[in-house]
Amino acid sequence: MMERTDRHFRVMMRQLTRHTLLYTEMVTATALHHGDRSKHLDFDEIEHPIALQVGGDDPQLMADAARMAEDWGYDEVDVNIGCPSDRVQKGRFGACLMRWPEDVARVVEAMRAATSLPVTVKHRIGVDELDAYEDMARFVRIVSESGADRFTVHARKAWLKGLSPKENRNVPPLRYPEVWRLQQEFPGLDVVINGGIKTLDQVEEHLEHVRGVMIGRGAWDTPWVFADADRRLFGAENPLDEPAQAVRGLLPYLERWMATDPGFKPHRVTRHWLNLFAGRPGTRRFKQILSQRSRVGVDPASLVEEALAGVEQVRAA
Ligand SMILES: Cc1cc2nc3c(=O)[nH]c(=O)nc-3n(C[C@H](O)[C@H](O)[C@H](O)COP(=O)(O)O)c2cc1C
Repeated sequence: MMERTDRHFRVMMRQLTRHTLLYTEMVTATALHHGDRSKHLDFDEIEHPIALQVGGDDPQLMADAARMAEDWGYDEVDVNIGCPSDRVQKGRFGACLMRWPEDVARVVEAMRAATSLPVTVKHRIGVDELDAYEDMARFVRIVSESGADRFTVHARKAWLKGLSPKENRNVPPLRYPEVWRLQQEFPGLDVVINGGIKTLDQVEEHLEHVRGVMIGRGAWDTPWVFADADRRLFGAENPLDEPAQAVRGLLPYLERWMATDPGFKPHRVTRHWLNLFAGRPGTRRFKQILSQRSRVGVDPASLVEEALAGVEQVRAA
């Protein structure tokens, strides 16, 4: 998610779950071609397994992006065919490409030829008037023939004109049964469902119908939900018992970043921790202290201890 799942967020999530697949923000193939690759691509070893999500419609540039994903050590590369923003439409990629499955197939084919990493596609149920189940199934059939390994479906259509990106994440109704049907009719593909899913109970319900579940906003709003994912979904031990352990565990990470650059703003890292106590006593106090103190020149250890003491005070009251 843009402005959300940067490397600092992903490192925070890795304190809570070792096995869940994490995704980068979308980066355009053009930005990778012309821009600062390290800034876009660098990540911490702890973030594995990790997928790079790219956007674009030029097979050559997208193939280069896939090659870079492999060179940088990513585990997968994902193509964004779900974003409805104007900026993205002007570049003729994102959700509008659902209209041209053959073009998406050419992109995926070029990427497959350029990398041995799995190439996956994230898309919508449909766009504008092209929103029948059969339209989506045709899209998936054509793109899968070019070798896409997995399809993640945001289970609502997008209106390319008239709705903002935010409205396009909320207004069109969720249509889960059509995504379940897609998995049924394409048993050779891995179908992952996305949209409006917040809890592990809901995840388990969907796993009765599809091979995977992607959580977007829930990961930001209530990250601690993921702290039980390793046990419930992957048959492994959970890394932590309490959010405070995550905060303390992240302290050396914050210190490392602050040591690299005297001008580094702790807020860049700590803004991702703000919701760690969401739904628990002390969450407001934690957020307050962390966001206020992150903006002034306090040392990382005191910042963390003050914020956690704030939570304790509320809990004890
Ligand atoms: C702030 C924000 C940024 C997003 N950026 C991306 C993105 O870069 N790539 C993408 O595939 N989806 C992006 N999305 C969409 C989410 O991945 C997801 O498909 C959508 O929010 C529905 O799922 P959810 O209800 O679990 O959030 C973004 C969503 C939000 C709220």
